[in-house]
Amino acid sequence: MLNKFHIHTFGCQMNVHDSEKIAGIFSQSGFQEADGSNNADVIVLNTCSIREKAEQKFYSELGRLKKAKKNNPDLKIAVAGCIAQQEKETLFKRFPYIDFVFGPDNIDNLQRWVTDREQDNNCDPQTTALKTNPYYHTKTLPVKRGGQVRAWVSIMYGCDNFCTYCVVPYTRGRERSRSSKDIFFEVKSLAENGFKEITLLGQNVNSYGITSHENIDFTDLLYKLHEIELIQRIRFVTSHPRDFSEKLIRAIKDLPNVCDHLHLPLQAGSDDILKSMNRGYTFEEYKRKIDLLRASIPHVSITTDIIVGFPGETEEDFQCTLNSLAEIQYDGIFAFKYSKRPGTGAIELPDHIDERTKSERLRKILKFQEDITYRKNKSLEGHLIEILVEGTSENDTEKMTGRTTTNKIVNFYGDSNLTGKLIKVKILDAKQHSLYGEAV
Ligand code: 5AD
Ligand code: SF4
Repeated sequence: MLNKFHIHTFGCQMNVHDSEKIAGIFSQSGFQEADGSNNADVIVLNTCSIREKAEQKFYSELGRLKKAKKNNPDLKIAVAGCIAQQEKETLFKRFPYIDFVFGPDNIDNLQRWVTDREQDNNCDPQTTALKTNPYYHTKTLPVKRGGQVRAWVSIMYGCDNFCTYCVVPYTRGRERSRSSKDIFFEVKSLAENGFKEITLLGQNVNSYGITSHENIDFTDLLYKLHEIELIQRIRFVTSHPRDFSEKLIRAIKDLPNVCDHLHLPLQAGSDDILKSMNRGYTFEEYKRKIDLLRASIPHVSITTDIIVGFPGETEEDFQCTLNSLAEIQYDGIFAFKYSKRPGTGAIELPDHIDERTKSERLRKILKFQEDITYRKNKSLEGHLIEILVEGTSENDTEKMTGRTTTNKIVNFYGDSNLTGKLIKVKILDAKQHSLYGEAV
């Protein structure tokens, strides 16, 4: 009899939310969450293949589980997520102790697998579910949420952009938007269950609605969700610079509950590299949109993703990326070394960059941004800022933690019954990754 599950999640927010859906299915089937992998009857590894490093972490965890399975042959091991989708049945051949492999579009197949296992613990392990599903967006799966204040809501699946470095269109399939009605009811039910903040999830939220039969775009969706009064904050990731519109800038300005933070991945500052990445914009075009946004909402915070060491990136190209950081003055960046992904266009490009140069460029860019981020945080000292309190701080259980509308973390001493409330704090000290304040 199987009754305890454990999920190990690798990768991004999209995957963390998928794990909440996987947990939702287990819970609906009467399973309980084990307190760690040692006490579990079923372990799911929800994998990420965006970069080599994420893949390596999965393979080393899988190696560890081989021993666990030897000690407990009844243990079931399932592999979900993007590596499952990419490697398909070859995973069974390489790692015969895996029991089930299912991709991001087939989370609902877990239900049947669980039921089969309950009826006959010895049934064929190599059941698989690996076709991307053109109707996945029409399903509403049960979700076991990780928090009580903030919640993720998928608004679309897949991606049609085919940036030449990126594996996502191959693992998560074509772009499909969920119906605005399904999204509205999910958010309404979150509000009724006490959630205060939602983050709308999609690979390119700005193209929401293009693939749907409804006459609705992302901005219209924001206006619609904004009517749900008990939701006090709305965030969204990820925006694509090519599709980021003036209409959306107006919505962020007009709608008080839409947060004043934009994550807009630039990837590179050189137009040659942007072209080779198939990003569909030049640095000038990107910068013009940032200028419009800042002219409209001066205190908005802006973050980005950067890839260093893309094939063909010269020292001059890299310098363009550094210059763009100096020019834009982001609140924060996520920077990555380019990593070859199977099946993607960039693999075929000439002039791949050696590992040492990539590491050196990554170090330089992180160092360069560090000062900008620190200075921006420092400038908030002495200010009175509103935060939504999320609960006890993970790093220091004596403190409470919350976030500004601009997505900066603020820790402070306060009562746990402030959780879920919007309060004012005075910023007393700014650090690199968080602020320290005093509740007023
Ligand atoms: N190599 C390095 N970084 C990548 N990203 C996506 N694919 C790759 C890759 N092959 C980064 C991009 C993207 C973020 C989620 O991951 O910056 O915006
Ligand atoms: Fe998320 Fe991308 Fe990793 Fe898939 S490959 S889990 S979409 S980060």
